[in-house]
Amino acid sequence: MQNILITGGAGYIGSHICIKLQENGFQPVVFDNLSNGHRDAISPNIPFVQADISDDAALNRVFEEFKPAAVIHMAALIEAGASMVEPARFYKVNTAGSLNLFEAMRRNDCRHIVFSSTAAVYGNTDVDLLDETMQVQAENPYGRSKAMVETMLADYASIYGFHAVALRYFNAAGADPMGRTGERHDPETHLIPLVLQTAAGQRDHIKIFGADYDTPDGTCIRDYIHVDDLADAHVKALGYVTSSDEPAFEIANIGTGQGCSVKEIIELCKEVTALDFNVVQDARRPGDPARLVANPAKANELFGWQPKYPSPRKIIEHAWNFYQANIQRS
Ligand code: UFG
Repeated sequence: MQNILITGGAGYIGSHICIKLQENGFQPVVFDNLSNGHRDAISPNIPFVQADISDDAALNRVFEEFKPAAVIHMAALIEAGASMVEPARFYKVNTAGSLNLFEAMRRNDCRHIVFSSTAAVYGNTDVDLLDETMQVQAENPYGRSKAMVETMLADYASIYGFHAVALRYFNAAGADPMGRTGERHDPETHLIPLVLQTAAGQRDHIKIFGADYDTPDGTCIRDYIHVDDLADAHVKALGYVTSSDEPAFEIANIGTGQGCSVKEIIELCKEVTALDFNVVQDARRPGDPARLVANPAKANELFGWQPKYPSPRKIIEHAWNFYQANIQRS
C-alpha cells in the first residue's frame, strides 16, 4: 500500500481526503500542527505527526520513516478576509511554508505532489466562467500567497523534475454524506456554517457582506463545491501525478460551474432547515471578488473528475446533518 503524506490532513477538507484515500487503497500519513485541525477528525489508525511545515527536522523524519509516494499539500491559512489584515502571516505560512516542504521533498527524492490552490487567485474579472488559462490577479494576499506557490511549482517541475497538480478550489462546503466528518472551524468565518449556526439559534443573525455588487441580487456569487467531491478530485489528481515520472505541472479548477449568491444560500438554508432567522445587511468585506465560478472542464479532461453533488441544496443538507449530530463539538 502506498503512503501519501498529507499536510494539513486534520483539517476540514483534509479529514475528508483521508477517508477517500483509505477507501481507494492508499495509506494517508497526516502531518498537521493542529493550529486549525482536530486530532479526532481523523481515524486513530492513520499515522499522525503533530508538527509544522516550517520544521525541517520533522519533515525529514516523516519522509525517512514513511517514504511517501506523493504529497497532498493542504497546510495553510485560508481566510481571505484575515489576509487583508495580517498579510505577513499568509506569506510566511502559505508561501514560505510551501517552499520549505518542496525543499524537504527534493532532499528526500519525492517529486509527486497535489497542491491545494484556490479560486481566490483569479480576483475580480468580468467573465462568467473562470478557466485556468486566465491571467491571475488575486484581490487579496491570501490569493497572492497561493499564486506564488503555483509559480514555484512550475519552476520545481521544469527545473527539478516535479510532477505536480495545483487544484484551484472554489468554495468547499458540506460534510461527509455518511456523517463521519464535517466542518468545524474555530472561529467560523464561512458562509454556510455561519448561516446554519444562525438557523440553530447559536447566533443572533447572519450578516450579508455587501448587497451592492454588480450581480443580479447585489450579493456575491460563489461556486459551492461539495467537500466529498473535492476529496474525490484529490484522489483522481493523485492518480494522475503518480502515473508518470515525467516532469509536469498542471492547474485544474475544482468547482461545479454553477454560481449561487449569498442571498440564495441563505434562502436555501431556510428551506433545508425549515427554520427562520434574522438576516442583516452589512458593508462589503474587503478583498471579496463579486463573482467566482469555475469552468471545471479541465479536471475532467486531465483526470476524469466531475462532481457527484453539484446541487447547493445537497451540500447544505449534508452540512446541516453533520451540524445537528455534532452541535456540541468544537
Ligand atoms: N459572507 C457573508 N457573510 C458572512 C460570511 C460570508 O455575506 O458572515 C459572504 C462573503 O462575503 C462571500 C461569501 O459569503 O461573498 C462566501 O464567503 P466565505 O467566507 O464562505 O468564503 P470565501 O469566498 O471568502 O472564501 C472561500 C475560502 C477560500 C477560497 C475561496 C474560493 O475560504 O479559502 O472560498 O472561492 F479561496
